[in-house]
Amino acid sequence: MTDGLRKGLTSYGDAGFSLFLRKAFIKAMGYSDDALDRPIVGITNTYSDYNPCHGNVPEIIEAARRGVMLSGAMPFVFPTISIAESFAHPTSMYLRNLMAMDTEEMIRAQPMDAVIVIGGCDKTLPAQIMAAISADLPTAVIPVGPMVVGHHKGEVLGACTDCRRLWAKYRAGEIDDQEIEAVNGRLAPSVGTCMVMGTASTMACITEAMGLSLPMSATIPAPHAERFRLAEASGRVAAAMAKAKGPKPSALLTPSAFRNAQVVLQAIGGSTNGLIHLTAIAGRTKHRIDLDAFDGIGREVPVLVDLKPSGAHYMEHFHHAGGVPKLLAQLGDLIDLDAGTIEGRTLREVVADAEEVPGQDAIRARNHPIKPEGGVAVLHGNLAPRGAVIKHSAASPPLLQHTGRAVVFDSVEDMTLRVDDPDLDVSADDVLVLRNAGPKGAPGMPEAGYLPIPRKLLRAGVKDMVRISDARMSGTAFGTIVLHITPESAVGGPLALVRNGDQIRLDVAGRRIDLLVDDAELDKRRAAVRPAAAPEWAARGYAQLFNETILQADEGCDFDFMRKEGK
Ligand code: FES
Repeated sequence: MTDGLRKGLTSYGDAGFSLFLRKAFIKAMGYSDDALDRPIVGITNTYSDYNPCHGNVPEIIEAARRGVMLSGAMPFVFPTISIAESFAHPTSMYLRNLMAMDTEEMIRAQPMDAVIVIGGCDKTLPAQIMAAISADLPTAVIPVGPMVVGHHKGEVLGACTDCRRLWAKYRAGEIDDQEIEAVNGRLAPSVGTCMVMGTASTMACITEAMGLSLPMSATIPAPHAERFRLAEASGRVAAAMAKAKGPKPSALLTPSAFRNAQVVLQAIGGSTNGLIHLTAIAGRTKHRIDLDAFDGIGREVPVLVDLKPSGAHYMEHFHHAGGVPKLLAQLGDLIDLDAGTIEGRTLREVVADAEEVPGQDAIRARNHPIKPEGGVAVLHGNLAPRGAVIKHSAASPPLLQHTGRAVVFDSVEDMTLRVDDPDLDVSADDVLVLRNAGPKGAPGMPEAGYLPIPRKLLRAGVKDMVRISDARMSGTAFGTIVLHITPESAVGGPLALVRNGDQIRLDVAGRRIDLLVDDAELDKRRAAVRPAAAPEWAARGYAQLFNETILQADEGCDFDFMRKEGK
């Protein structure tokens, strides 16, 4: 028998002795033989004093434990890495794959029949799902849930769309030091993840739509009692999966589930980061996310969820309007309702239970969408041979077709130093270009794609400009911003060839981003580019592994040896 405590024995060359020793040591914690004979549900603990988004994890663990034990199984809590957006240097994306490796190996190494992963801050759910699918043990995901909203001068506030909007006002001199300090204390009024449709909310919605978490798990606010009842119910489901040995992630993450996830990503006006993470998750299976197919889905799927930054509301409003089950109901035949869930129910059964909330306006009907097309478009062109993305649902419509003069920044540091220089030659019609900010270039593809509007233009009332880069952007940001240009400039992508004053044409309707410089001139520039030396930051350790194996954005920025088929 290789279940429960007998799974994955430590190798001493004598299986009987290995089990004897394991039991002897675990009994030091006071467990009885009855407890140790039960199926085991591992529970990841991602609580950290550095991660306020995960501030309710101890209570979630307690509730999940209760659910596991009420169902006759034994919970074992174990720590993994925790990553918080604003506490991760150089950027959280640099650490996502490390968290995925840590979580996968600890699931493999320790005896458990099912696992509950608890996460939420942007990179944590993707890392945990990448781990779960690679370990392929029955897995229940419990998102920590979104923060409740804040209030300031009669206005509703939320992290972090309003962080950026109000910081831009401060930079423009429209609000003073005292007010920005007051705002600082009101943007994040509770534990939980950012309560707009940023990456955390996007990934929680996608996870629910793929059947990996219980209905409503994406949207229940982090401090609400309902969140802990959901954790208890998730504990029960995990115990049932431990006994039944399934369903495993490989059984749930089918092509239909990945298609449903892409439909939901478009319909919620989800974060562009969500596409990278979904691509990485698919890379851990035998399935793939095709960027052009994703763009095609975007052309038929309208944005139905009215949340910032594409719309007006926040996650708690989405929740009170019926959450993801209601959204799936509104999407109707755009969703494959035969897809399964961890409970053993199909999405059809989940949708049948969706709440009807009279008068709600956060989840629109298909004939009354926020935007007629999905939130994210995929661009190609001579600047992005392997693709780029734009969240056009959160962009300025007049700028979606635009030709302008390039103003180039060679790195994040260069941009920081020069963007507010009063002598910078820049106007509102120009295109701001940032390069060397991709997966290898920065490293870790920081969320620097939301280039700040130069201060002198801000003060003249400019609210948006076309900005392009090989970086990522927070899903909470608003603007006409082209991201993930692939290949990145640090590996010889055409972004490296742009010069100040070149004309760049953005054509979102035609799905193109082009440098209007003739091929002969581009060949000349390419020939003059010297091969990059090995970067100093990658001399040893994890940094070296990262630099040598990180994939580009169109492949999900996973490590090349971590995908299903290995290197
Ligand atoms: Fe953690 Fe936004 S900072 S979810």
